[in-house]
Amino acid sequence: MPVLLSELVVFHYFSSMRTTLPFSSFDRLISFPLLFISFATLLATLFLGCRPNVPTYTAQKSEIYSTAAIAGPHPLATEVGEMILKKGGNAIDAAVAVQFAMAVCYPRAGNLGGGGFLVYRAADGDTRTLDYREKAPAAASRDMYLDDEGEVISDLSTLGHLAVGVPGTVAGIEAMFKEYGSLPWPELIEPAIQLARNGYRISQSEADRLNGFQEYFAQMNEQSPWMGDTFLVDQVIVQTELAATLVRIQENGSQGFYQGETARLITKEMEENGGLITAQDLKNYTATWRDPVTANYDNYRIISMPPSSSGGVALTQLLGMVEPYALDSLGFQSAATAQLMVEAERRAYADRAEYLGDSDFYPVPIGKLTDEAYLSERMADFSPDSAGTSADITAGAGLRKESFETTHISIIDSLGNAVSITTTLNGNFGSKVIVDGAGFFLNNEMDDFSAKPGVPNMFGLVGAEANAIAPGKRMLSSMTPTIVEKDGELFMVLGAPGGSTIITAVFQTFLNVAEFGMSLDEAVNAPRFHHQWLPDEIMVEPDALGEQVKATLAAKGYRFRDVGRMAVVKALQVLPDGRLHAVGDGRNPDDDVAGY
Ligand code: DON
Repeated sequence: MPVLLSELVVFHYFSSMRTTLPFSSFDRLISFPLLFISFATLLATLFLGCRPNVPTYTAQKSEIYSTAAIAGPHPLATEVGEMILKKGGNAIDAAVAVQFAMAVCYPRAGNLGGGGFLVYRAADGDTRTLDYREKAPAAASRDMYLDDEGEVISDLSTLGHLAVGVPGTVAGIEAMFKEYGSLPWPELIEPAIQLARNGYRISQSEADRLNGFQEYFAQMNEQSPWMGDTFLVDQVIVQTELAATLVRIQENGSQGFYQGETARLITKEMEENGGLITAQDLKNYTATWRDPVTANYDNYRIISMPPSSSGGVALTQLLGMVEPYALDSLGFQSAATAQLMVEAERRAYADRAEYLGDSDFYPVPIGKLTDEAYLSERMADFSPDSAGTSADITAGAGLRKESFETTHISIIDSLGNAVSITTTLNGNFGSKVIVDGAGFFLNNEMDDFSAKPGVPNMFGLVGAEANAIAPGKRMLSSMTPTIVEKDGELFMVLGAPGGSTIITAVFQTFLNVAEFGMSLDEAVNAPRFHHQWLPDEIMVEPDALGEQVKATLAAKGYRFRDVGRMAVVKALQVLPDGRLHAVGDGRNPDDDVAGY
């Protein structure tokens, strides 16, 4: 249960080491006198009630590895990945294990009840993507979030049972495992089961998040390890129900989620609370393999996610629109560079709103949108002398203040196979609904549909017919898991959480390396800016664009909005000598890298 003050970390020397998972922790202690350890353990266990087998951790943001590497949102999850890679698992094995681990120790975004996207590049250069995005339930309908006057009912698509799309995560994890996995499935889930059963210590940032969302949890749920008075750093969280759910998946594969007891618990949760997801919806869910969207930029090839994400198409458009300009000589975040990038972003997001949606339901003109001639025509009216204007409407002005969370993992294994996965519940802890008896949060991904043409969702994004709600359809995403080749060889793996700002974060991080000569950690941590057509303003992080640059752009007609932080990139780069630079983003205190 949540509040176990007696379980605060006592072994401070444990917490000073980044690895303390039960199965590997004591490897790193061999330099300590054995006697002292036993004595301290006994004392702590007997008198202080602490749990020496419960992992603690500190995050590491940048490291260079010789063989294999992973960057992710949480040290316990990356630690699981490292362990799998070291025992001979490939990048997909590690991705499977890490995703299950994140479902335990990173509940704000790691998930069983959400969905995601994989971009995969095998060591031989073969590339594929897997779409395991949530789908609208069969009973969903185009106007389900509108009142009698045709207005959007606030919160219906973000909070509670009606906000939930049919989860895709477990089907996706199983599909990638069946195609590429090499270690036994049960072994890959076991670390997550141990974390759920034995518990883990929450970080300060997790405690802050949990405390901030208690009001919503209480509104939606009766009980959960995630509900309590005040969560404290290092408090131990044990998730017995989640452990049992994971065991069902361990024993039965995705059927342990989409059928049987877990499915029964999900449908019960829905039936009792006005949700739409049925047993048939769960049974029908399948993940879909798709060809990636690829872009050439100088001697780079960018491999990214096609619809149902807009990420790959928009990234390709952005790169295509700025490539003709000599960004390196215009300079990093100079007024000229910023203006050019903003104008490219304005155009790409305008196209996103009109043309992007689930390509299984709507004929997204991917070829046309990413065509070189089209992109150059699109920039034909660009003028360095003045700001462009987005449509004369204020629809995008309603950006919500909620903090968002999604998550990303980048992995390269010892053979050179690369995995880029972004996965999400959408908002922090999704719909805030925890499946009673099964112990996991359900997504609020339905908000990524366009509930009504021109009305912004919680990221301020607008959409139209292409992204209208329909039964079985996937809602449009901005997630942009990406892999980059340089001269035909694997060069970068990157992606991020951050809603609509994901696309521009990947865009900027790549350009920071490719055009502005930054090291990967400089590139990831450089302050960013973002324009998404509507609202017609440039969002800026602290320190992004200088005051002088902002004044120059303001004089041309641009408007700015200060934001605390935007997307949180996790990236890997293959260095010229073949070593791997892994970088987590300083924007998330728990971002972490691991490898060997
Ligand atoms: O798919 C999408 O674009 C959103 N559901 C992602 C949400 C997100 O990144 C929230 N994050 N910080």
